Amino acid sequence: MTDAAFTPRVFSGIKPSGNLTLGNYLGAIKRWVGMQGPDFETIYCVVDLHAITVWQDPATLADATREVAAGMLASGIDPETSILFNQSQVPAHAELAWIFNCVARVGWMNRMTQFKDKAGKNTEKVSLGLYAYPALMAADILAYHATHVPVGEDQKQHVELTRDIAAKFNHDFKVEFFPLTNPVIEGPATRVMNLRDGTKKMSKSGESDMERINMTDDADTISRKLKKARTDPEPLPDTLDGLKNRPEARNLVDIYAGLAEVTSDAVIAEYAGAGWGRFKPALADLAVEKLGPISSEMSRLMADPAEIDRVLANGADRAEAIAQPILKRTYDIVGLVRSR
Ligand code: TYM
Repeated sequence: MTDAAFTPRVFSGIKPSGNLTLGNYLGAIKRWVGMQGPDFETIYCVVDLHAITVWQDPATLADATREVAAGMLASGIDPETSILFNQSQVPAHAELAWIFNCVARVGWMNRMTQFKDKAGKNTEKVSLGLYAYPALMAADILAYHATHVPVGEDQKQHVELTRDIAAKFNHDFKVEFFPLTNPVIEGPATRVMNLRDGTKKMSKSGESDMERINMTDDADTISRKLKKARTDPEPLPDTLDGLKNRPEARNLVDIYAGLAEVTSDAVIAEYAGAGWGRFKPALADLAVEKLGPISSEMSRLMADPAEIDRVLANGADRAEAIAQPILKRTYDIVGLVRSR
């Protein structure tokens, strides 16, 4: 069976751990919104089972789950067009993950750079779930036979592992059942960096709030953080090449490009020779214009958690209807007797 035999289907997810950031928005959510339409079936998931691979306070986890859903809706994920749900409500994810735990090799997991970064020197003390995390991610994707997975650069290795798991499953059981999913990593802002240190990724859990823009930040906060972002003393160059070895400057140009929906080259062409006194206020205004309405819509949605739960429940029903038959066929292929 070739890739063409599979329905073009997008799956992607975000962990409800900490605040949604500009990195999540530009690297993922904004691009998910753009993939909605006639070309793909789109499935977007709040991956709560992934969040608990590190300790989460239960009440905070529930709030964060609804907040991530609100962030997706406020950004333009349409719950009629797309399927939007939280992972734990569709048990097929966890069930297929177990089968993939038995397909994936320990050596593959040992190569996962995100696990090494997260575990640090603490490899003996982290949860077993954190180690097995990429097998659950493969299950998220393959429970829907998803063909395309739009993610930021940091998830590339996990999507490649998903392909390895699919290929080994197909090979071991002599079937062509799971697709070899394509990561979709496109646009100027697939790796948004920390505003205080351009060599580190902007993340939900960094120490200082000044290093990231949260999707819930108000206009003043967004503007203040961008104006205080670390830069160097040089003006902007004439070409993108001139930003080599200037990670903070490059990051702000890429953020501008992502928000304005243009290329980073086009931003440089417009601002060649400009100092930070001109560029930063322009960036701050653009960010406030684009993110302000999203953050107010998020607050409006968060005021009615029952409505968010209704949207998620409807999404879970639709997700389950796709995943259940795929899981059943997987059980048959593996030889697990379905006695009822
Ligand atoms: P998570 O929750 O860390 O991030 C969600 C999405 O946001 C992207 N992202 C970024 N993009 C650009 N710059 C950044 N600084 C930045 N920070 C985060 C991530 O690349 C991701 O696309 N394991 C995944 C969640 C997941 C998943 C899946 C994704 C679970 N199952 C199946 C796709 C398909 C994660 O932890 O993402």
